[in-house]
Amino acid sequence: MGTTARQPLLDESLKNAPTTHAKLLAWVAEVSELTQPDSVYWVDGSEAEFARLTDELVEAGTLKRLNPELFPNSFAGSSDPKDVARVEERTFICSENERDAGFTNNWMDPAEMKGILKDRFKGSMRGRTMYVIPFVMGHLDAEDPKFGVEITDSAYVVASMRIMARIGTDVLRKMEETDAFYVPALHSVGAPLEPGEKDVPWPCNEEKWIVHFPEERSIWSYGSGYGGNALLGKKCYSLRIASVMARDEGWLAEHMLILKLTSPENKSYHIAAAFPSACGKTNLALLDPTIEGWKAETLGDDINWMRFGKDGELRGVNPEFGLFGVAPGTGWGTNPNAMRAIAKGNSIFTNVALTDDGGVWWEGMTEEVPEHLTDWQGNDWTPDSGRPAAHPNSRFCTPIDQVDMLAPEYHDPEGVRIDAILFGGRRKTTVPLVTQAHDWAHGIFMGATLSSETTAAAAGAVGVVRRDPMAMLPFIGYDAGDYLKHWITVSGKGNQERLPKIFLVNWFRRTADGGFAWPGFGDNSRVLKWAIERLEGKADAVETPIGYIPTADSLDLTGLDMTPADVEEAVKVDPKEWQEEVKGIEEWFARFGDSLPAELSSQLDELKERFA
Ligand code: GDP
Ligand code: PGA
Ligand code: MN
Repeated sequence: MGTTARQPLLDESLKNAPTTHAKLLAWVAEVSELTQPDSVYWVDGSEAEFARLTDELVEAGTLKRLNPELFPNSFAGSSDPKDVARVEERTFICSENERDAGFTNNWMDPAEMKGILKDRFKGSMRGRTMYVIPFVMGHLDAEDPKFGVEITDSAYVVASMRIMARIGTDVLRKMEETDAFYVPALHSVGAPLEPGEKDVPWPCNEEKWIVHFPEERSIWSYGSGYGGNALLGKKCYSLRIASVMARDEGWLAEHMLILKLTSPENKSYHIAAAFPSACGKTNLALLDPTIEGWKAETLGDDINWMRFGKDGELRGVNPEFGLFGVAPGTGWGTNPNAMRAIAKGNSIFTNVALTDDGGVWWEGMTEEVPEHLTDWQGNDWTPDSGRPAAHPNSRFCTPIDQVDMLAPEYHDPEGVRIDAILFGGRRKTTVPLVTQAHDWAHGIFMGATLSSETTAAAAGAVGVVRRDPMAMLPFIGYDAGDYLKHWITVSGKGNQERLPKIFLVNWFRRTADGGFAWPGFGDNSRVLKWAIERLEGKADAVETPIGYIPTADSLDLTGLDMTPADVEEAVKVDPKEWQEEVKGIEEWFARFGDSLPAELSSQLDELKERFA
């Protein structure tokens, strides 16, 4: 319907397309023919363009402009209540062979999947503008820049991508100069408009498809406008597709924050930490140390691309440009660095509550709870409403260069040397506050058997313990056993003396009375201090079957209202709990079948022997 009438307009916009990249032109033509948008718009990434797009989004009712005295150049919007998180059930890895997707991924034959998707995308942009966003993950002047082009029919996605990734004309020019390969990333909210039909503030489709073709290195996302499903440079490219690139090219694409810590002796260390979604990456990345003389600077809060340099040392780079942080729990008390970055403006908030003076609020932002709010669904809210004002997975999206504590090395395409790796999850029981691995191989075992309770960052039940290898369960773009094997082979190429030390952490252990066993947040600096002193060979530890844990007096508790007995509670290894844990690990490993690396099954045997 109406397709022939629209054809000339598309030809016109392609004739005026601001690029000579033949492959890109051909792809844009192909997609516009399939999706039938009203017009095609090439995103330049400028400030003026951001202003225009956000004006349009305000006009359309998708976003509200916040009070500029409180949050300059900032906006808040609410999604459809059925589109608030990543959808793992609807996420697919469509490799040629099912075996290559492995048991942790949904799989469908690529040709069959393309058929389904083409059907969904057919005419899906009718009545809308199709935006073409050239982007690069990592630095534009990296040795081997990782390009992408996202095509989307959502202006909200364009505005958010401008915060989260390096986008626009500069990127396009560089792609042309080098005739570079780019990851084609196609996105539609799946809500075409009939002529004269009025749009809704948050168009989306009941049916969602988040699909990756690893051999072709392409992404097709349909039906959702939410962050991780729609900002395709983030989880879809920088983790799922990049993990496949990393396998083929000999590096690691990981779900990790990167933090620089400087000791009172002025020695700097870089720590990478992998925690599942909504388990504390952004908070640790923006750490405000509570111990005297220690300085923290951030490099990244979600993604870390690591490779061994010529000297055999492991180096990490954050390929992103912004923060897409969980809002609830982010407050002046827990995370002042995030709050200061947000207060500078230029941010987009999703599914938070609005204050009567045109600001935003969420649970945990301030100690004092406002007397009246408009909740994330637009209803009046008071403290006795009996429901949260902000959605538990509500987010702030803020440029990373607004973080005062941003490390200067963030701007270095070579990245930083990684001295320590933390794996962590959200566990009420069993897992101590911190455990140092016996050695690198044992550390990989810790990562491979990492477990965590599910959170609101993904649709589905919350609080269920599941194994989450390297916090990558929803993001490994290929077979999970091959992924673990890749960790083992890649690190075999590094300088073995200089491999990072590995630690397992758990900020979320509970005491018998139900409270947190450890205060967390800024006080996590005390755990990092212990870890660094372990690298320096200075801090004491007790050897247990699961690794080294701090002695009661090796953790710096200065100024903390905690006794050595409380610390013992936080770090204890309970053999009964570990009997259960070992069973869980056995069940987990059984699921890998043949693809479990032998090195890991022998680690499990050794663990069992140490408990015997
Ligand atoms: P990310 O999704 O991994 O980046 O996780 P965030 O840093 O955004 O944190 C997710 C949730 O965990 C937020 O509600 C935080 O307030 C909470 N959180 C983060 N760090 C800690 C901690 O050290 N202790 C406790 N108890 N909660 C934390
Ligand atoms: P995060 O991921 O929770 O790890 O920050 C964002 C997302 O779930 O899309
Ligand atoms: Mn985060």
